[in-house]
Amino acid sequence: MSEQVKAIGVLTSGGDAPGMNAAIRAVVRTAISYGLKVYGIQRGYAGLLNEEIIEMKSISVSDIVQLGGTILYTARCPEFKEVENQKKAADICRKHGIDGLVVIGGDGSFQGGSRLSEQGINTICMPGTIDLDIACTEYTIGFDTAVNTAMEAIDKLRDTSESHERCSIVEVMGRTAGYIALWSGIASGAECILTSEEFSGNVDKIVERVMKRRAIGKKNHIIVNAEGVGGSQEMAKIIEHRTGIETRATILGHIQRGGNPTCRDRVYASAMGTKAVELLYNGKSNRVVAYRDGDFVDFDIQEAAQMKKGLDPFLYHMSHRLTSIPDRDMEN
Ligand code: ADP
Ligand code: F6P
Repeated sequence: MSEQVKAIGVLTSGGDAPGMNAAIRAVVRTAISYGLKVYGIQRGYAGLLNEEIIEMKSISVSDIVQLGGTILYTARCPEFKEVENQKKAADICRKHGIDGLVVIGGDGSFQGGSRLSEQGINTICMPGTIDLDIACTEYTIGFDTAVNTAMEAIDKLRDTSESHERCSIVEVMGRTAGYIALWSGIASGAECILTSEEFSGNVDKIVERVMKRRAIGKKNHIIVNAEGVGGSQEMAKIIEHRTGIETRATILGHIQRGGNPTCRDRVYASAMGTKAVELLYNGKSNRVVAYRDGDFVDFDIQEAAQMKKGLDPFLYHMSHRLTSIPDRDMEN
């Protein structure tokens, strides 16, 4: 077991996610409760290289559990992929007496954490991304808030689509992963959910579904399109042209990354923050905190990086069942 850590640094990296503040608060308060010093590192790895390091007290994280965003700011820092910068960052940590680090971000950020671990800084990563695209975990900080934001936005679009008897294509975030599309689409009763994992690119099928729905009396049509599929504006033009139904595209964009975290995001982010500090306190490094089968667990970062997951097959199958139109309905 490596030597007991004395001071912990915490940073947020990559895209922000609602619940990151709850995670920071839990890291700071848990570390203090174990008698450790805590430093906040601002602006991710970029801030670490610039020595943007501030001491955190219990009061520093007061009244933030309910806030979206990250009080530590976040950044992308492509130059952190260079080993010279990783060495420099580890030296900066040592200079400030930081011997343990908590990195909150996505799988790109985890690679940075793993490199720091190789440079002798005990590092634990936490999954902070609205995309849910980290294979080792069933939960990522921010996903729950983001899908609720998307769901509420789609409900609103449904109202205006119904009034105008239109078709609406809603593009949701998720980089290359379709989890936000699948969940927000199911929750809002979307007639069609397109994800890069499953969509063949065949617009004919969408046109056919819209026409079938129109034939049974449906006035509005919601198509949830994942960012990984993209092309919503062009798709809207094609659907309008082919169906004769006015069609609008809405790209929800970064609104999905903001807002007060849901209860689940606050509680799970807090649990993961405490778990991360306890791993460091117990001499662990190069681990990622995860949620699996109802438990908060941890994995080696590189083992986690090898894991693969796809869309939940049952959820996907179920979403089709709920939107298919049997021929007997068409006959009525
Ligand atoms: P996310 O963490 O949300 O997946 P990115 O992929 O943009 O977001 O990664 C965030 C940051 O993590 C990058 O800007 C970079 O600083 C760091 N990072 C990503 N990949 C690596 C890598 N292979 N080695 C070292 N650092 C990395
Ligand atoms: O990873 C989170 C995410 O919001 C993705 O869903 C999206 O593709 C990307 O970040 C957008 O990044 P940026 O903030 O750089 O526009």
